Amino acid sequence: MSAAIHGPHASEAVANAAERRWAIIVASIIALLVLMMVVTGLHWAAMPPSRVETVDVKTLHLRGEFVESNLGTTLQPDGRVMVRLIAQQYAFVPNCLVVPEGVPVTFRGTATDAIHGFVVGRTNANTMLIPGFVATFTTTFPKAGEQLMPCHEYCGTGHEAMWARVRILPREEFLAKAKSLQSSGERLSCVPG
Ligand code: CUA
Repeated sequence: MSAAIHGPHASEAVANAAERRWAIIVASIIALLVLMMVVTGLHWAAMPPSRVETVDVKTLHLRGEFVESNLGTTLQPDGRVMVRLIAQQYAFVPNCLVVPEGVPVTFRGTATDAIHGFVVGRTNANTMLIPGFVATFTTTFPKAGEQLMPCHEYCGTGHEAMWARVRILPREEFLAKAKSLQSSGERLSCVPG
């Protein structure tokens, strides 16, 4: 018995024990790293970053903020100007937006099918529209006139033809139009009258 412990077999046993110790240490480090990845992954999935606003694509056209009658420009009771729009293959609804010159305008938009986006002429109005999420930003248009608003995210074969117009009215003209519609709850449109 004792002969088996001493001699060449003994050093082999010591080497094996050391190997096993290292294997356990390395496996523990790998397990710890994998655990960290799983925990941070689950944490990110469960806790979206702040200011992310979601919307149900399936009921978008049926109820809530983005029903068709609620799309377009409104003058809020607090005096803010709000534009709501949706993007779908291959058009914006509405396809012509009316906004005032020199007044902050808040945009709220989303998409129904694919990722779209838009930029308004040479202004800083520029956003992506992603199904399931509400994009919002506020900007001011410094000059009256008409600007083109093309889709700037490749969204399919009709992408090149997907664009809308933005009509920027002088402040007084816009406010007069908006106030005349406020009682009826209608949205401002590019249709004259
Ligand atoms: Cu919509 Cu490109």
